[in-house]
Amino acid sequence: MACPQDLYILAAAFVGAVFFLWYSGRRRSASSRFPPGPPGLPIIGNLFAMEHFTHRGLAKLAKLHGGFFHLRIGFANIFVVSSPETVREILHQQDSRFSHRPVTAAMEYASYDLADMAFAHYGPFWRQMRKLCVMKLFSRGRDLSWRTVRTEVDDLIKSLALKKGTVANVGELIFKLATNMTLRAAFGSRSQDDETEFVAIIRELSGIFLAFNVADFVPFVGWLDINGVNKRMKKARRALDVFIDRIIDEHIARWRNGDVLAADMVDDMIAYLADTPGRDTREDGVELKDLRLTRDNIKGLIMDIMFGGTETAASTLEWAMLELLRSPGELKQAQDELAGVVGLHRKVDERDLEQLLYLRCVCKEVLRLHPPLPLLLREPLQDCTVSGHVVPRKSRVWINVWAMGRDEKHWPDAEAFRPSRFAGESADVDFRGGDFRYLPFGSGRRSCPGMQLGMYALELGLANLLHCFDWSLPDGMKPSELDTDDVFGLTAPKAVRLTAVPWPRLSCPLF
Ligand code: HEM
Repeated sequence: MACPQDLYILAAAFVGAVFFLWYSGRRRSASSRFPPGPPGLPIIGNLFAMEHFTHRGLAKLAKLHGGFFHLRIGFANIFVVSSPETVREILHQQDSRFSHRPVTAAMEYASYDLADMAFAHYGPFWRQMRKLCVMKLFSRGRDLSWRTVRTEVDDLIKSLALKKGTVANVGELIFKLATNMTLRAAFGSRSQDDETEFVAIIRELSGIFLAFNVADFVPFVGWLDINGVNKRMKKARRALDVFIDRIIDEHIARWRNGDVLAADMVDDMIAYLADTPGRDTREDGVELKDLRLTRDNIKGLIMDIMFGGTETAASTLEWAMLELLRSPGELKQAQDELAGVVGLHRKVDERDLEQLLYLRCVCKEVLRLHPPLPLLLREPLQDCTVSGHVVPRKSRVWINVWAMGRDEKHWPDAEAFRPSRFAGESADVDFRGGDFRYLPFGSGRRSCPGMQLGMYALELGLANLLHCFDWSLPDGMKPSELDTDDVFGLTAPKAVRLTAVPWPRLSCPLF
């Protein structure tokens, strides 16, 4: 006769089997309405193939499964898109159905529980934050940001001039330019120690973003903190809190003393801080009267600016130098244009940029081959139908901009670096989000609000690097031997920093 213990085991096995059959049946019926995709295991789905879910790996999968396919990791449904028609359908819905961004636990924590703009859910608050960014923080009218770019480009040229004839770590210097640019535009001038401390915090946060976190795919085990990501995150955010609180307090003190002449981005945000004295009397012509920011909003926005503005601009500039060093003919053409437009007696300034048409083609071509954000992330607000398939609410949509930029169907000789493809009749190819084969700044409601500032830094930085110096490669290296590997994360920078030898080229002093 069976004892009670056996009966319990039998009952548990029965309930488990029923749950499994119900769950698989439910999955099968839901997945029959999804686009095709690689087969996965019950419950965990495609978890074991996760390491291949980079922009490159996903591009390979698209060759097998098409420009709209489905993956599942644990409980997360992921829809990967690289067909321009489907992208248009998703990004330019008349309503705002695809205007949320999916977030990982780390992103949620770093954005102060979505108190920022980049990860905030689409809605009235996000719209006000976006207006603040577009009309004030990143606007062309804020002279300090543009001045900061010019100062940082001058510093970069000076550092390289001091290295003349020797091997310079061009990638590291470019990264420093971009970090200082965003840091100074956001906070005003800071001490060297402050900068070093802040960069260390940001690097740790970037590392955490890249760490695999089980909780992102099986949310109910989040509290176990299996990979220790939560612990690291809390420590990094505590350091960030101390750092930014100090900066906010300094700015508030300046505001109280009426000393806000330099108006950096934090000054602009403080003006909307809920308890700032005198905020209601502020007359700045921008209608954001209802906007009340908290400290967490300000901290979240600072995170957006640091992550949105630093690696993007730095990696594009580094890739541009790499591609030109690999293609001496293209490098010469860009330098000849600069010599013709600017002359060899002075550096490039802002007014020259309009006339540097080939330089603009170079920038566009680099953004096609190396979009700094290779995947655009979206989340539907409700269940949707896309190209006849179901995309349920809360699933993740990854738009593979990198794959679209290298698709032979849209770009003849797609892997080649050929800036002239953007010349002549193709000069009008839109990089601002209107051409769905090519979306380096995204498209639709969540497209990049810092595009003008980013393009300015890229064009002015690249123009001066090419105009002020001739370049050779270290240790007799051949152009074809330059390393072209990238790393996959939030952005896709070069895996190994670029080094090269600068030789001053102008008849005037460089600093
Ligand atoms: C070459 C330079 C840059 C490139 C290629 C770039 C690209 C992008 C892309 C692809 C997105 C996502 C768009 C989407 O999902 O549709 C984005 C978003 C964003 N970018 Fe940029 N970016 C650059 C520079 C900057 C700069 C300089 C800033 C600010 C200082 C900035 C701030 C942001 C912010 C805050 C968002 C989030 C917008 C939102 O969710 O509403 N970016 N950027």
